[in-house]
Amino acid sequence: MSKVLITGGAGYIGTMLSTKLLEQGHHVTVVDLLKYDKGSLNHLYFHKNFNFICEDVRNKNLIKKLVRQNDFIIPLAALVGAPLCEKFKKDAKSTNLGTIKTLCEVVTKKNKVIYLTTNSGYGVGEKNKYCDENSPLNPISLYGRTKCDGEDLVRLKIKNHVCFRLATVFGHSYRMRSDLLVNNFVYTAVKKKKLTLFEPHFRRNFIHVRDVVNAIIFTMKNFNKLKNDVYNLGLSSANISKIMLARSIQKQYKKLKIKIVKNRKDPDKRDYFVSNRKIENKGFKATISLDKGISELIQIFSNDKNKVINNY
Ligand SMILES: NC(=O)c1ccc[n+]([C@@H]2O[C@H](COP(=O)([O-])OP(=O)(O)OC[C@H]3O[C@@H](n4cnc5c(N)ncnc54)[C@H](O)[C@@H]3O)[C@@H](O)[C@H]2O)c1
Repeated sequence: MSKVLITGGAGYIGTMLSTKLLEQGHHVTVVDLLKYDKGSLNHLYFHKNFNFICEDVRNKNLIKKLVRQNDFIIPLAALVGAPLCEKFKKDAKSTNLGTIKTLCEVVTKKNKVIYLTTNSGYGVGEKNKYCDENSPLNPISLYGRTKCDGEDLVRLKIKNHVCFRLATVFGHSYRMRSDLLVNNFVYTAVKKKKLTLFEPHFRRNFIHVRDVVNAIIFTMKNFNKLKNDVYNLGLSSANISKIMLARSIQKQYKKLKIKIVKNRKDPDKRDYFVSNRKIENKGFKATISLDKGISELIQIFSNDKNKVINNY
C-alpha cells in the first residue's frame, strides 16, 4: 500500500479520491485550507490511515517535509475556474503555479507525481476541432494559463510524473460544485425548470468525478506503463453539444423547458471534440455515463437541504 499526499484533498475531486484511496488501504495525507465546504472530509477523520493538515499549501517547509514522507504526490490545491482566478489573480498565480514550482524543487527520486489540468485551452479559437495530445493548447484565461504552465513545469522538471488533461467533470462529490457545466445545467433545470442556451451547438466533453478517481487509481497501479507522458481524460461517449446535453436532461426531467437564444454569443468559446484514445490504449476507459450522472444530480438538487457551495 502507498503513502499518498493530496493537496486540495478537501475539494470536489480530492474528497472523492481520498475516500476511495482509504477504502483501498492506502495512507492518505491531505493538506487543505477548507476554503469552501468545512465538512467535506468529516466522514474520513475516523480513519486510522487518514492524516489531515489544515494549512496553506504555499507553506514550503511543510510541503518539503510531507513530500519526503510520501510516495505519490497529487497536487490538486488550486483556485479553480476562470472567474475565481480573475478575482484573486495574485493568489491564483501563487497557488496554482507557485506551489508547482515548489514541488519541482523539493520532489525526490522516489516520488511519483500525478498532475491534473484542464483541456479547455484546446477548444478556443478554432471551430470544429478534434483534439489529441499533440494539438496546441492556447488557454485564454489566467486559470488556464496557470494550469498549462504547471503542466509544462511538471513535464520538464519531475522525473516520475503522469499528467492528465481533464474534460469538464460532473457528478456528486462530498464537496459539491454546481458551477461545472453538467452540474450547472441540471441545477438550473431543477431550480428554474428552464435552460437558456446561447450557441447551443458548441461541443464540449465531460467525465464523471468517479471516473477521474478510477483513472488516478489505475495510474498508481500502472505507473511505469504510463509514466512521463500526458493524456487526455474524458468519457468518449460524452463529446456532445450543449443542446444534446440539455435534451438528455429533459429526457429525465420532463418539466424542463429549453430556450435557445439566437444571435447571442456565449462568452465561453469552447467548441471541440477530444480524443481519449491514448489513455484508452494504455488500458483505462471512463465508463460512467452522462445519463447516470444526470439522474444522480437530479436527485441531489431536488433536495433543498443539500448544500452547494461554489468557488465564486
Ligand atoms: N473539476 C474539474 O472539472 C477539473 C477539470 C480539470 C482540472 N481540474 C483540477 O483538479 C484540481 C481540483 O479541482 P476541484 O474541482 O476539486 O476544485 P475545488 O475548488 O473543489 O478544490 C480545490 C481545493 O484546494 C483548496 N485550496 C485552495 N487554495 C489552497 C491553499 N492555498 N492552501 C490549501 N488548500 C487550498 C480548496 O480549499 C479546495 O478544497 C485543480 O487543480 C483543478 O485545476 C479540475
